Amino acid sequence: MAKLKEFKSDSAMGLRGIKAVNTALCSLSVESMKLCYLGYPLEQLARYSTFEEVSYLLINGELPTRDELSNWTQQLIDDRTLPEMVKGGLERMSGSTDPMSVLRTAVSLLGNEEPEQKIDGKAAAVRLLGILPAMLGYLNSQKKRDRIDSDEKTLAGYLLHTVRGIRPTGMERDMMNCSLILYAEHELAASTFAARVCASTLSDLHSCILCGIGTLAGPLHGGANEAALELLCRFSDPEEARSGVLRMLENKERVMGFGHAVYKESDPRSPIIREWAHKLCTEKKDMRLFEIAEAIEHVMWNERRLFSNLDYYTAVAYSVSGIPKSLFTPIFVVSRCAGWCAHVLEQRADNKLVRPIANYVGTEEREYIPIEKR
Ligand SMILES: CC(C)(COP(=O)(O)OP(=O)(O)OC[C@H]1O[C@@H](n2cnc3c(N)ncnc32)[C@H](O)[C@@H]1OP(=O)(O)O)[C@@H](O)C(=O)NCCC(=O)NCCS
Repeated sequence: MAKLKEFKSDSAMGLRGIKAVNTALCSLSVESMKLCYLGYPLEQLARYSTFEEVSYLLINGELPTRDELSNWTQQLIDDRTLPEMVKGGLERMSGSTDPMSVLRTAVSLLGNEEPEQKIDGKAAAVRLLGILPAMLGYLNSQKKRDRIDSDEKTLAGYLLHTVRGIRPTGMERDMMNCSLILYAEHELAASTFAARVCASTLSDLHSCILCGIGTLAGPLHGGANEAALELLCRFSDPEEARSGVLRMLENKERVMGFGHAVYKESDPRSPIIREWAHKLCTEKKDMRLFEIAEAIEHVMWNERRLFSNLDYYTAVAYSVSGIPKSLFTPIFVVSRCAGWCAHVLEQRADNKLVRPIANYVGTEEREYIPIEKR
């Protein structure tokens, strides 16, 4: 790696606070803690809507009528079928391969098999939204059948049924529906920016989504939900959690599921998923994980004024619903794919190649040294 000269990091590093694109998809006000998708407050969508409706809204720009919603839902169901080439690819991957890598490869295979030139961008987006849960189900299924035998109509219910092999309860289905809505879009998150940068070169939709998946995988972004569960599982009770996290802070360790690059006081999505985590733990009469999570939350706020983000209580809600930890981030992909696709379509509609410049902090110009003299 080239040596960096001593330099002071300035606020431009990490592009914090820089407006890099125009969007009509998501507004995020840190002052009023208001988050809206196309003008609709997220709390209202999370309370009254479905992932099908919200994905339609993001991709098409308006809420659907009854007929439009019914066609969209049916299209998502029809799009669950996996092409032979994708099934073959999934079968060849070893059981120990990280599901995010498997998903990335499967999307790439889909892009080979059904390139966007054959179908238009919107149709490719719906196909991706419909097929992603089926890819996860296929990956998780021991029997390696084409369509997992699920007659669940909603994407949330189908996803839970296929990845666990057990039909979800009403509450689990509702929690997943809400979680998919909360994860569907978040303005210019790192993965969305990556997808838009790719789109700005006029690349195909599948390549843009692959950029999104690769960027989401990291523990500072989507991977935080899995990392948060790993943290919670280190402790057997709230007291142990309190002292353990205090020790982590003393050692300057990062506590996953806390803090945010844009929000400074709280994450408006966090109380919504926290409520679901509480409801599910109560229904299952198993409050242990929730109480550990609460204890850590208090320590983080009291010691560092750091608040839980969306990934933190999602980890509790998913875990108590019996979802394998390794599928937490892939489920985030299923949902955020709606936002990525919407951003790619938006970028194409008013495109400018994204090409910032770098601040050079390397050595001054120097003479080339022939290899025998080095
Ligand atoms: C999301 C995140 C990368 C945003 O952080 P950021 O705005 O870039 O802030 P920085 O990483 O520069 O951190 C600023 C300070 O807060 C501390 N901090 C931020 N998040 C922290 C966390 N989760 N645990 C412990 N300390 C944290 C940093 O150590 C740093 O302290 P310092 O100034 O003494 O060095 C960061 O909060 C984080 O790593 N969180 C954990 C991962 C996570 O949950 N990601 C999902 C986000 S939705």
